[in-house]
Amino acid sequence: MLLLINVILILWVSTVRGQVGLCDFPEINHGILHDEEKVLFPVYTGRFFYYSCAYNFVSPSKSFWTRITCTEEGWSPTPKCLRLCFFPFVENGHSASSGQTHVEGDIVQIVCDKGYSLQHNGSTITCAKSGWSTPPKCRPSNSQGKCGTPPAIDNGKITSFPLRAYAPGSSVQYRCRNLYVLQGNRQITCRNGQWSEPPKCLEACVISEEIMEKHNITFRWRESQKLYSQAGESVEFMCKSRYRATATSPPFRTKCQDGKLAYPSCEKDM
Ligand SMILES: *[C@@H]1O[C@H](CO)[C@@H](O)[C@H](O)[C@H]1NC(C)=O
Ligand SMILES: *[C@@H]1O[C@H](CO)[C@@H](O)[C@H](O)[C@H]1NC(C)=O
Repeated sequence: MLLLINVILILWVSTVRGQVGLCDFPEINHGILHDEEKVLFPVYTGRFFYYSCAYNFVSPSKSFWTRITCTEEGWSPTPKCLRLCFFPFVENGHSASSGQTHVEGDIVQIVCDKGYSLQHNGSTITCAKSGWSTPPKCRPSNSQGKCGTPPAIDNGKITSFPLRAYAPGSSVQYRCRNLYVLQGNRQITCRNGQWSEPPKCLEACVISEEIMEKHNITFRWRESQKLYSQAGESVEFMCKSRYRATATSPPFRTKCQDGKLAYPSCEKDM
């Protein structure tokens, strides 16, 4: 019975649609429809409604209530709520848009203060659905191409006393803390007011005798055994005598990676 009613309803709806057109309930992200609860959707062409946008959103017409009408082509104008973005604070820079509110899709030009320049890609920010895109950074750019203090790195530092300014072409070197291994270029150079990429200091692994015992393994080369291994350095294990590798054991020759070591494992040889 219910099925029959459904079929009749569908037939009826498609007939009506063929003649005058219908509009479904308009789904509006970040918006609400006025009076929606009193109406059965879909509705015929000619019906109109008003919608309003949530806080921090606005309709394209920018009015609080915006009228939409059901037409043969659907809702007109297409209801939508656009994000509002308040112009953010840009360090060492400014914009004609300072203190203004923008609408989703707006692109704002950033101008750096005197003595500063945009180092990286782009001098604009865009008001997107989720808010402003990452704002560009204005960095000191003295015309002589000097660099500021070299970038700090985790678990390492430069080998010389840090200065406030470095002449173009000058370089400094980094050193890692004990048990950390330097990856990348030890030396960075100041070019066009910017330092080249600093290296990274990667953690070394401490090899635990306790874990080795638990995994039934020993070092492959007794004479080279040591209880810590630097990143990237190979360590080789083997099964204790009368033990054999488990089916799921990681490789016996392995490397310390980011302070972690995958220990192989052995089990009693039956
Ligand atoms: C900016 O970034 C885009 C894509 O990330 C890249 O294709 C383009 O070359 C970059 N421009 C500059 C000036 O770095
Ligand atoms: C070490 O060997 C014992 C005895 O075969 C076994 O029960 C245990 O699971 C082994 N350890 C590992 C980590 O496989």
